[in-house]
Amino acid sequence: MVILEAKDLCRYFGGLKAVDHVNMQVQKGEIFGIIGPNGAGKTTFFNVCSGTYTATSGDVLFNGKCITNKKPEEVARIGIARTFQNLKLFSYMTVAENIAVGFHIHSKETIFDAIFHTKRYGNSVLFHCLS
Ligand SMILES: Nc1ncnc2c1ncn2[C@@H]1O[C@H](COP(=O)(O)OP(=O)(O)OP(=O)(O)O)[C@@H](O)[C@H]1O
Ligand SMILES: [Mg+2]
Repeated sequence: MVILEAKDLCRYFGGLKAVDHVNMQVQKGEIFGIIGPNGAGKTTFFNVCSGTYTATSGDVLFNGKCITNKKPEEVARIGIARTFQNLKLFSYMTVAENIAVGFHIHSKETIFDAIFHTKRYGNSVLFHCLS
């Protein structure tokens, strides 16, 4: 099953074609890498897929639905998580805790649940990462 797909995706900066008619499909569960020399357009491609940049043309599909030019927060809510080339990690936190920072968007518990450690908080993924 295809989970992420780019169809003829382009992102131009004036006359510079950073991403030029890229087509690719990632299957569910697949580990998929993109390689290329410096300036090849890898980061630009990720930025277009995650909504940081708009596409000049073409489409990005996630689970078959078009997500082209959606805002980064909408893309995150739909289920695409990303990291950045220049990382800013919390050095005093563990790897799991750093990952958990980005998970809040999918958590249902409120600040009330976190303060009073309600059953809902106890069942949360965040709780299991932090304990
Ligand atoms: N915001 C921007 N405005 C203008 N040009 C840009 C912008 N972002 C990227 N570019 C240009 O697009 C091209 C692709 O850059 P990009 O950062 O996507 O490459 P990359 O493959 O990630 O390179 P690296 O391996 O160095 O990380 C480069 O020529 C870069 O200068
Ligand atoms: Mg890059």
